[in-house]
Amino acid sequence: MAKKLWGGRFKKKTHPAFDAFSSSLPVDHKLASYDLTASAVHCRMLRRAKLIDQKTASKILRALESIAKSLPKAGNVFRGTQYEDIHSWIEAELVRKVGKSAKHIHAARSRNDQVSQATRMYCKDKTQGLMRRVRLIQKAMVMKAKAYTHVVLAGMTHLQKAQPVLVSHVFLSYVEALDRSRERLEDALKRIDVLTLGSGALAGTNLPIDRAWVKKQLGFSRISQNSLDAVGDREFVVELVQIIATLGVELSRIAEDLLIGQIEEIGIYELPEELCTGSSMMPQKKNPDFLELARGASGSLVGNATALLVLLKGVPGSYNRDLQWDKKPLFESVELIEEVLGLFEILFSKLRVNQFQAMVSLKNDQLCSTDLAEAMVLKGVPFREAHERVGRLVAHCESEGM
Ligand code: ARG
Repeated sequence: MAKKLWGGRFKKKTHPAFDAFSSSLPVDHKLASYDLTASAVHCRMLRRAKLIDQKTASKILRALESIAKSLPKAGNVFRGTQYEDIHSWIEAELVRKVGKSAKHIHAARSRNDQVSQATRMYCKDKTQGLMRRVRLIQKAMVMKAKAYTHVVLAGMTHLQKAQPVLVSHVFLSYVEALDRSRERLEDALKRIDVLTLGSGALAGTNLPIDRAWVKKQLGFSRISQNSLDAVGDREFVVELVQIIATLGVELSRIAEDLLIGQIEEIGIYELPEELCTGSSMMPQKKNPDFLELARGASGSLVGNATALLVLLKGVPGSYNRDLQWDKKPLFESVELIEEVLGLFEILFSKLRVNQFQAMVSLKNDQLCSTDLAEAMVLKGVPFREAHERVGRLVAHCESEGM
């Protein structure tokens, strides 16, 4: 294991098996660019507060920039090394490039506020990205709705034919559902977009820092008010992962609709071949694998939201190391939903509605029973009575085989 940031008070080395268990680097290296950005602003703030001299600050800033530039190539480096986390790795890189004076950067901060800040920056970035992706699918859905404004199909409740609906009405119902998730993301941003740097390990710092300046430089909308809360709060992670789970469930239900609509017996939806697979044994098969995979993915998304809540449940206030386990479910959910959303956009831009089959679905003489009852209401019959009369008519027709 690399030299620890906290080695001073220890006589023995950590056990190698524990080193491996303890290190979050294989996971949290995805926070690198955010930590580097925050570190640069922190360094400039320390220079303004005269806590670092001009020369050292310039060297640190140059080194941070060069680390940032070499990051993409550093992918394998993260795997091989034994640093405790990305924050320790970056500090070690700084010392390697600048020398001992780089250690001045850690004044007035702790990995506890650092990790909170970097995770918030990741969440902010990803939340804005997800909102854009949702918009793109909505656009593709609206385009499809426009392309088929004239097509009517048998709408269902309880998987039974119920009333005729426009296929565009179906597609626009998906747009509405996705809009709720997009709004949730927008709302969550309020609680994500917060400066927590300056909270230190748990009790802030005695040093004369300037949080308002840091907030402005990093473009946050708010500053956390309580350092104990700030280092222990992971509700913003839970919230984002829960929203992603809900979005995943929405997409799973849309997938289910399309899966039903594409079976041979209904045949209203024709899925793009690009998102289907074949069978290794049955040459004729065109399997709707993307929709099934998307439906299945929602299971992991729900699981991750649950994992985070259970993780937090027994953790006392302020920072506790358990919190390190937040990143795996967070990253997994974000990356999974990004992939699923991207593919849904492709799906909706290429989906075809079989207009003949839509018409065939209307071949059910009882489909307009409600319309008949409502026509009677217009003639002054109370709806309950109209309902009863049409019901009797349906029963009569059925018994007479009409
Ligand atoms: N890697 C840790 C995390 O992700 C942050 C480090 C805090 N470590 C500590 N001993 N206080 O939560």
